[in-house]
Amino acid sequence: MTRRETQVAIVGGGPAGLLLGHLLRMEGIEVVVVERASADYVLGRIRAGVLEATLTDLLARLGIDARLKAEGLPHDGFFLADGEKLIHIDVGGLTGKTVTVYGQTEVTRDLMEAAPERGLEVVYEAGDVALHDVESDAPWLTYVKDGVEHRIDARFVCGCDGFHGPSRKAIPDSVGRVYEKVYPFGWLGILADVAPCHHELIYANHPNGFALASMRSPTRSRYYIQVPVDEDIALWPDDRLWDELAVRLGPEAASRMTRGPAIEKSIAPLRSFVFEPMRHGSLFLAGDSAHIVPPTGAKGLNLAASDVIYLSEAIGRFFKSGDAEGIAGYSDRALARVWKSERFSWQLTTLMHRFPETDAFDRQMQQAELDYIAGSRAAQTAIAENYVGLPL
Ligand code: APR
Ligand code: PHB
Repeated sequence: MTRRETQVAIVGGGPAGLLLGHLLRMEGIEVVVVERASADYVLGRIRAGVLEATLTDLLARLGIDARLKAEGLPHDGFFLADGEKLIHIDVGGLTGKTVTVYGQTEVTRDLMEAAPERGLEVVYEAGDVALHDVESDAPWLTYVKDGVEHRIDARFVCGCDGFHGPSRKAIPDSVGRVYEKVYPFGWLGILADVAPCHHELIYANHPNGFALASMRSPTRSRYYIQVPVDEDIALWPDDRLWDELAVRLGPEAASRMTRGPAIEKSIAPLRSFVFEPMRHGSLFLAGDSAHIVPPTGAKGLNLAASDVIYLSEAIGRFFKSGDAEGIAGYSDRALARVWKSERFSWQLTTLMHRFPETDAFDRQMQQAELDYIAGSRAAQTAIAENYVGLPL
């Protein structure tokens, strides 16, 4: 077995792990990231693409935003569609801020490409990653690569290994608490090289179920429809999916929708999940390892960004001055923002989807809320300020 030391070992090289790694490197801290998959596999995952200003500001601070600035699409509003009525949420006018549409895959690629020149070491294809002695001041990781076992000793271990990774499981059941809501539907997504039907996003609540019109660029569109959670994707050849999108998004969007062959098509389940606390001894959780939001509102990556901002501040302070206050406060600070994003994602999901058990009363509540939003600047402001991102 080989053995080495570093200051911070990060499990998981998705967007949370890479962002945290870059932030710590900027403070001069030694970091090693261990990632189970290959770089190509990590870049093959397709996820939501709406970045809050907090995240674009962070990428600017890191100096990893050249492509984002050139290719990112600033969006200052979006639509909620209720039947044939479109409610415009003027995010820019109501908050003075904008979001940026830029694929998370592209964010990950930019972070990956900037890693070598900044001394951010990422070990890809690290198998059997295991965490040890996380309660102590001398935690360590083991992993296997190319048949050889390796050990990394660190002062801190950061679990950025997503929902299924080993880090959260290293915290004993007696210490942790899970809050979870699983929704009875998933999103069937299609990516296609066609122009978007609208320059802004449309979230639609239709009797057949939710639909979303989104995009990646002026020539690449991303659409979703709500389907039963156990739906067989084989039931949705491209033509049927385009027909259904046209129905659910309404006649105006349908008239401007260009169809094309799917370059990616998949079904993702919807879940709200929070694990508390986000620190145990010398182990920290950040991103999807600690919390999941349903994609309505696109908060997943943005929440990972606020976690790693708080965490890098806490760890930076510790190494600079030995001050452990930030470390002690990390979990509470991060969770305060996590719960607010959980609330917003749950609210938008509940408002815009058709639940199998929805009775007539629940449907009236959805309609009344959409009516209220349509007529109230205050209600639109509440949505806009959450959509654009709550302050850190
Ligand atoms: N060992 C090492 N790495 C692991 C292990 C393991 N046992 N298990 C998982 N990983 C890696 C995964 O391969 C993945 O690359 O951890 C990474 C976790 O990445 P994500 O699942 O993307 O989670 P996170 O980085 O927290 O993402 C934050 O961004 O892309 C969005 O939707 C995503 O909302 C999420 C947010
Ligand atoms: C996407 O473009 O994939 C997307 C956009 C907004 C969402 C979710 C997903 O709320």
